[in-house]
Amino acid sequence: MDETGTRADDDTGRALAEIAAATTPDAVEALRVALLGKAGSVTLRLKALGALPGDQRKAAGEAINRSRDAIGAALAERRRALDDAALDLRLAQETVDVTLPGRDGHRGGVHPVSRTMERMAGIFGRMGYAVADGPEIEDDWHNFEALNFPPHHPARAMHDTFYMRPDGSGVPRLLRTHTSGVQVRYMMDAVVDGSGPPLRMIALGKVYRSDSDQTHTPMFHQCEGLLVDEHASFAELKGTLVAFVRAFFERDFEMRFRPSYFPFTEPSAEVDIAWHQADGSVRWLEVLGCGMVHPSVLRNVGIDPARYSGFAFGMGVERLAMLRHGVDDLRSFFDNDVRFLRQFA
Ligand code: PHE
Repeated sequence: MDETGTRADDDTGRALAEIAAATTPDAVEALRVALLGKAGSVTLRLKALGALPGDQRKAAGEAINRSRDAIGAALAERRRALDDAALDLRLAQETVDVTLPGRDGHRGGVHPVSRTMERMAGIFGRMGYAVADGPEIEDDWHNFEALNFPPHHPARAMHDTFYMRPDGSGVPRLLRTHTSGVQVRYMMDAVVDGSGPPLRMIALGKVYRSDSDQTHTPMFHQCEGLLVDEHASFAELKGTLVAFVRAFFERDFEMRFRPSYFPFTEPSAEVDIAWHQADGSVRWLEVLGCGMVHPSVLRNVGIDPARYSGFAFGMGVERLAMLRHGVDDLRSFFDNDVRFLRQFA
């Protein structure tokens, strides 16, 4: 072999060693440019062939071409090897172990107050009561007047709330203090569309009063029921409430109907249940209010009190949930402490 050919072979050997030592695709590319690029060393040598004496040109050209082919093959091979290694690495790093348990820490649950309302709706639903809804921003007539609370009636004092004129009109509105307004609406709708009486319904939802202590929050939930029929009686009211309390607490209680006063019922009663304490003593706990619908209320909604009578009852959802679950501070329902709420989920 002539001198040029030997030099080419030496250079090729060095180039092949450099290619084999390249550790990144960028390094391989840099070598390609340095060797085979327009100004690469192999290319320059090819260009320099013309300067050689004619008898050396052929052998030198063949040697450079061999070198170029060997380098080209080595570059392609090295690039493929690096690409394969990169892919292997990714496959190893991005492995998904499909047998691992899923990440679970954000499972929600139904709030105990909602759960209690669902429970109440279920129990009364099985007794044939429909569930009705109404606005939380109510007008004075539905919240008070239709229910026999005239303006300045002292019973309004126990129903202090926010008053507003939301639409800028002359009609004042208020945050409803009980769900009884829903019953007024329900009776009026039934009269208008002829679907009742007889009628049976419960209203469930938020109500607002200016109250705040261990057993009161300014917002709480009520479940109020109403039945209007030709012969609704106080005995039936008692039977209904005893059945409800048994179903709700899943046990029997001694119950006491204590005379009370509400403007919209006459006679009226408050219902207490005998709560047996851990120390063996008994405490009477008030759980709801009830009574026979006042004839004026029936008249106000267009029902003839000479033909129909009705009974109504109302209870605090949180209060019953507290008793059922042994919660001692009503405010904890609204603190949004998941450690508390999770116990009911
Ligand atoms: N609306 C009464 C209240 O919120 C509860 C009640 C309803 C009492 C129906 C008697 C009959 O205090």
